[in-house]
Amino acid sequence: MRDNDLKKLLEKMTLKEKISQLIQLTPHFFKGSGKITGPLASLNIDEGVVSNSGSVLGASGASEIVNIQKKFLEENRLGIPLLFMADIIHGYKTIFPVPLAIGCSWDLKLAEKSAEIAAKEASAAGIHVTFSPMVDLVRDPRWGRVMESTGEDPYLNSEFAKAFTRGYQGSDLSEDVSRLAACVKHFAGYGAVEGGRDYNTVDMSELQLREYYLPSYKAAIDEGAEMVMTSFNTVAGVPSTGNEWLMKDVLRDEWGFEGVVISDWGAVKELIPHGVAKDEKEAAYKAILVGVDIEMMTSTYVQHLEELVKENKIKESIINDAVLRILRLKNKLGLFERPYRGANEVLEKQVLLCQQHRNEARNLATKSTVLLKNTGVLPLKITQKVALIGPFAENRDILGPWSWLGSKDDVVTLGEGLKTKAHDSFLFIAKGCDIEDSTEEEWIQAKQAIKQADVIVLALGENSDMSGEAGSRGNIKLPDAQLQLIKKVKQYKKPIVVILFNGRPLDLHGVIENADAILEAWFPGTEGGNALADLLYGDENPSGKLTMSFPYSAGQIPVYYNCFNTGRPKDVQDAQERYVSQYLDIPNEPLFPFGYGLSYTTFQYTDAKLSKVNFTTNETLAVSVRVTNTGAMSGEEIVQLYIRDIIGDVARPLKELKGFKKVFLNPGESKIVTFEITEKHLKYHHQNLNFKSDSGDFIAFIGPNSKDLIALPFRFEK
Ligand code: BGC
Repeated sequence: MRDNDLKKLLEKMTLKEKISQLIQLTPHFFKGSGKITGPLASLNIDEGVVSNSGSVLGASGASEIVNIQKKFLEENRLGIPLLFMADIIHGYKTIFPVPLAIGCSWDLKLAEKSAEIAAKEASAAGIHVTFSPMVDLVRDPRWGRVMESTGEDPYLNSEFAKAFTRGYQGSDLSEDVSRLAACVKHFAGYGAVEGGRDYNTVDMSELQLREYYLPSYKAAIDEGAEMVMTSFNTVAGVPSTGNEWLMKDVLRDEWGFEGVVISDWGAVKELIPHGVAKDEKEAAYKAILVGVDIEMMTSTYVQHLEELVKENKIKESIINDAVLRILRLKNKLGLFERPYRGANEVLEKQVLLCQQHRNEARNLATKSTVLLKNTGVLPLKITQKVALIGPFAENRDILGPWSWLGSKDDVVTLGEGLKTKAHDSFLFIAKGCDIEDSTEEEWIQAKQAIKQADVIVLALGENSDMSGEAGSRGNIKLPDAQLQLIKKVKQYKKPIVVILFNGRPLDLHGVIENADAILEAWFPGTEGGNALADLLYGDENPSGKLTMSFPYSAGQIPVYYNCFNTGRPKDVQDAQERYVSQYLDIPNEPLFPFGYGLSYTTFQYTDAKLSKVNFTTNETLAVSVRVTNTGAMSGEEIVQLYIRDIIGDVARPLKELKGFKKVFLNPGESKIVTFEITEKHLKYHHQNLNFKSDSGDFIAFIGPNSKDLIALPFRFEK
């Protein structure tokens, strides 16, 4: 349809029909008798609203979606199809590692591919829009939702935001029905909830918001993300869902976003408990005025917007604008011509969880795993007898908390993965304890396994409910039962390899001292067990690097690499000085910093140099380094470039990631890795919030992580 036809269609709609477009309902409203009971009944909506509603959340499967759409269109006066939206976060049926793990791959191509595959599966199952990517910058591992993000760095998060958006949407949503429209979330700053407690307050300077938190949403939008979801939190005292400055001034006016904005689940009505709306009517008024087009899961719009228009409190044109944006999205997805779009039961059977998708999931799980420690016990030798102990030895709960339709039945567990490598008589499996408790019987079986083995692989972690939405924790250590298990196992004086399954950086006290090697597997997805077996036996070499710091302990949180120097930086030379920025009882540094991760081989960085030491606007400064594989195994290294701006108009971070490259090197091989720095890399928000560079002294840092870097000073003159 042409845009004019959409406008004509809009003219034909009654006010009631228009307002009904703005509600999003669950599939239950469209099934069976249509009678709604339970909590959903509190929406208090009638048949008229349901048969004119605009979108559905959480329907799945070609047959279900075609049925709903068909029945709906039979009753809808103007033939306006429904939009089907869902949370396809890291895969539909084939589940990839959680996004925080994908971040640790630093592999934008694989990330894009994972989104493309998710779109392919979900679109065949009839879905049109995914509530992804989640690009909230995160610094607090107590917050359970860090597993949905790619980490603590604005540049890296932005690159992933673009990669995921490209992967979901492809280049033409109207033509390519195997793609989904992407909805970037949660706008804005949700990752900064105070104390890491979900749904809590967010408050920060506009400088901080613009410099660190906003870039990744902007990146997704610039890449073409069709939708934006509001966040639950306040921003400068006003909840996002009713925040005029954020939703209008920044999103629409400054960034020019013309797509659809959806509230998060129930967030319009939550303006009441937030204390900025006295009732549902005022909540509806505030949200529609700032340009929230779709109300997810509450019904304040359909209850009150008509009245608000009749009372002249809001202009009908505001509702028209919202409806037009929704119609445009439906049109862009080609729904007026093809209301079932990609829904295809035959294709669904072919593509869901097909071998090719499993292979991609396995590959990404391999690249997402981070080797945190290794005294040389890894890789295992096929001649070693292995005791696989722990609550994750045969646990199918490794898909992560946001894997929706991913089925545990399709999971390859760690135990199953190891069985494909190790001979039966070389592998002894026992649970040892449960995630949070233990029995004597479990320990007796573990003991028998341990006694027969040369090496112990301890599979530990958090169950998926311990992270994700509403999954905040105050204590981010492993549960006590597992810490006790490590202690008991340690008594046998055999090498211990720990594999961690979890949704957040943990406080590793109790693990780090006792383990000879640690592999951080996160929630690795459907093919996790195979990927980990490949890594354990050295058929693959770990290459992942952390994109979120592992705190020394929870008392340091937030701890992140791109922090400021402060007026009293701790001088490591003068350990006696008291009046410096430090803790008396714990170090300032995290246990493992951003960018950190080991390999079975070693890489040496030499010949680091700059093409010149002074450069100016329109010039390029090249930074290069020779990276050599000095070990005995082929491997991939993630070479990182950071910059420090020594003097700024505002305090500038100690370093900021500006580039990274992955290089694959055979033993003895070396490659020169080069980065180009231009003026754009030196720009930042000044006191007056202008985004620009200034002349001065800088340091370029190059190396394998945010800590172990070679420093190369340079000067920039404008
Ligand atoms: C979450 C969103 C999600 C939405 C729909 C909310 O509770 O915060 O991330 O997209 O539910 O399922």
